[in-house]
Formats: sequence, structure tokens, C-alpha cells
Amino acid sequence: MLPHIASAKTKQENLLYNGGLLTGLSKPLPYKSIPGFLSAEQLTPHHDAHYGGALRGYLAAEATLQSSIHDGTSLNADAYGALQRARVNKADSVLLHELYFDGMTTTPHSPTAEITAAIKKRFGSMDKWMADFQACAKSSSGWATLAYHQLNGKLFNIPSDKHATGILWMASPLIIIDVYEHAYYTDYKNNKTQYIEKYMHHIDWEIINRRFKTTG
Ligand SMILES: [Fe+2]
Repeated sequence: MLPHIASAKTKQENLLYNGGLLTGLSKPLPYKSIPGFLSAEQLTPHHDAHYGGALRGYLAAEATLQSSIHDGTSLNADAYGALQRARVNKADSVLLHELYFDGMTTTPHSPTAEITAAIKKRFGSMDKWMADFQACAKSSSGWATLAYHQLNGKLFNIPSDKHATGILWMASPLIIIDVYEHAYYTDYKNNKTQYIEKYMHHIDWEIINRRFKTTG
């Protein structure tokens, strides 16, 4: 095997990420339903239509932009700008949905010591963090995130009204909740507060802690 092929494969195998932006395929749902929280009727269309649709949109924009670069296909300025914005918007939607779906569990458990210590240091207590995270989620019309900032080592609760806005650059998302209506309306109608409260009991702290340990 040629050396450059071998090193490329090794590099890819070492990547922590195995989602749609790398494979071009939808990551399957970890759970078809989360009893007591989200039904299959809620989760399946959310996964297939919203996440799957975002991935298809990303791949289409990516293919068009790549061919315009490699094949010299001309795009007018408006089409080019729209495609660039569509690509990052869809890519962010793909990433956020993967972090959201992968970060929930059917078997609630306590957060691990490491992330607990970091949250207490920043917010004072787990209860104070939970109250602020829920307020953050209620204030958002898109996403709410607990993120770790690479440069100052602080945790932040961040609302994002759209996939590609509200970003704190160089912050790594740890906990993600989708608060678009499509994420809860089938099961909760307009009771966003109850959906958010229940989410807090279905955070997969093993996954969150793994994300936390790979930051910084
Ligand atoms: Fe969503």
C-alpha cells in the first residue's frame, strides 16, 4: 500500500467523529423511542426528515460548490453566496442534531464527577446550572447548548435561534437540546417547558463526560 494512502486511512480511523459530514450517511438513532420522554412518532420524523433533510441539503450544496471549484463551473455571485450559506447552515444542523440525538439516554443516570466539578465551579451548583440551562432553552427558538470554551476554560449556556447563529467561536458543545417545535410538538404540543424539564432527566452523562474529556 502506498504510504500516503496508509497515513490517510490511519488519520480517518483516528477521528472521533463518524457522522454524516464525514460518511455522507445518516447516523442511526441510538434509540427508536425514549420511554417517558419521546415517542417513536416524535423521534422518527425528526430524525428522518429534519436531520436527514439537512444532510441531503449539505451534500447537495457541498457537491455543487466542489464541482464549481474543481471543474471551473461558473456560479453567479448570488448563487455562490446562497450555496455557501446553505452549506454551513445545513452542516450545523447535521452536527447539532447528531449531538442532540446521541446525547440522550433511556436510562437516566447521574453526571460523572469530572463534569459535575466543572459545572459546580462555573455555576455554583448543579441545580443553579440546571435552572440557567432551562431558562436558556426556554429563551431560544432553535437550540440551547452547554459549551466548553477552549481559550478561557469556561462553560457557557448558549441559546441559538438558528443552526448557524449564536455561535461562540472555539467553544465545544457538550450538551445540546433541540427546542424547535418539530422536536417536541407531537408529544408535548405547545408545552415546551415540560419537554425541557423532562430532557434534563434524559441527558446521557457518559457521552457528555466523554465530550468534556476531549476538549481543551
Ligand atoms: Fe431538530
